[in-house]
Amino acid sequence: MARLEFISVSKSYGKTIAVRDVNLSVEDNEFFCIFGPPSCGKTTLLRLLLGLVEPDEGEIRIDGRSVTGLGPKERNLAMVFQNLALFPHMTAAQNLAFPLVERKIDRAEVARRVAAVAETLHITKLLNKVPAHLSGGERQRVAIGRALVRDPAAFLMDEPIAALDARLREEMRVELKRLQRELKHTLIYVTHDQEEAMSIADRMAILENGMVRQVGTPDEIYNHPQSRYVAELVGSPPMNFIEGEVDPMSRRFRADKIAFDVALAALGPHVVAGGPACFAIRPEDIVICAADDPAGTVAAEVYEIEPLGAFTIVDVNIGETILKAMVPGQLQFTLHQPIKLGFPTEKCHVFNRASGRLLVGAA
Ligand SMILES: Nc1ncnc2c1ncn2[C@@H]1O[C@H](COP(=O)(O)OP(=O)(O)O)[C@@H](O)[C@H]1O
Ligand SMILES: [Mg+2]
Repeated sequence: MARLEFISVSKSYGKTIAVRDVNLSVEDNEFFCIFGPPSCGKTTLLRLLLGLVEPDEGEIRIDGRSVTGLGPKERNLAMVFQNLALFPHMTAAQNLAFPLVERKIDRAEVARRVAAVAETLHITKLLNKVPAHLSGGERQRVAIGRALVRDPAAFLMDEPIAALDARLREEMRVELKRLQRELKHTLIYVTHDQEEAMSIADRMAILENGMVRQVGTPDEIYNHPQSRYVAELVGSPPMNFIEGEVDPMSRRFRADKIAFDVALAALGPHVVAGGPACFAIRPEDIVICAADDPAGTVAAEVYEIEPLGAFTIVDVNIGETILKAMVPGQLQFTLHQPIKLGFPTEKCHVFNRASGRLLVGAA
């Protein structure tokens, strides 16, 4: 159990800045995801925590204590390799015992610890089975167990299930979340999959080029992105963006190229009259209504319909611009039908076009 902190940590490899001035605090017992595209510095953050590399600047703390200069063994953090890393010819019990046998811990103690961990993880009945005879979720428990026998302060995982097929990934995700809750250990989980991060994390950090762009709960990240970068990275289908400018007098956003003029909520302090801006709204927040419905404010047409059962993704076009909307169930409109779109004020975001910074946020 541990609190893990990065204090102004930077790390370069030659000319490549892998991690830039990162400040992060992962709380005790937290399921914390580090999320971002390939090469944004995720693995480097884990290696810094583990003590496999030292920061050029800044400090890493475990439970408030600087671990600068301490080797991996003294930090007592466990990197968990998933089921793929279990030894196929060994039983679950032998797999669990492996890290202890390797450390030459005596047999009776190994047996005692394996039994205790198996009980914690509810895998006592599986101890004599080899990995091939275990389900995905069971193998995951054994893999965690192998780290747990060492009684680590926290678990770290680096894209542990990225290589698995979609169904198994979902099973593992749920299992992992349950496990972390039961075990009450801090878990830092690295992924480049936004859906995975959103579904599994208590809190997450979003990285861009080695920098932390935003930290928050999945709900905060999804509903209150502080930059266009974060807004674009999270959500499927992704957010819609329309370029134009904000008129602070009328408190409206007007598009550059299409007939799109909508009301905004209270303006933030950074809005500059006529400054290039970018309007953004999530597909599920666009309201689709009949052409004569006063709830709609922008004229559009149905361009394409993708029925997905529980909901429908509707491509709508305003002139040449296509937006993706999402409605529950089936759509009652037909292809090419003229419609109106509503953009609820409290769901509209506006970003500065050059810096990507949030100008007007959703309520
Ligand atoms: N040992 C290394 N030597 C040189 N460059 C490295 C090394 N490790 C990472 N990098 C570079 O640092 C950046 C961040 O890498 P990494 O932390 O592995 O990103 P991620 O895990 O998000 O894909 C990348 O540009 C990568 O090429
Ligand atoms: Mg990586």
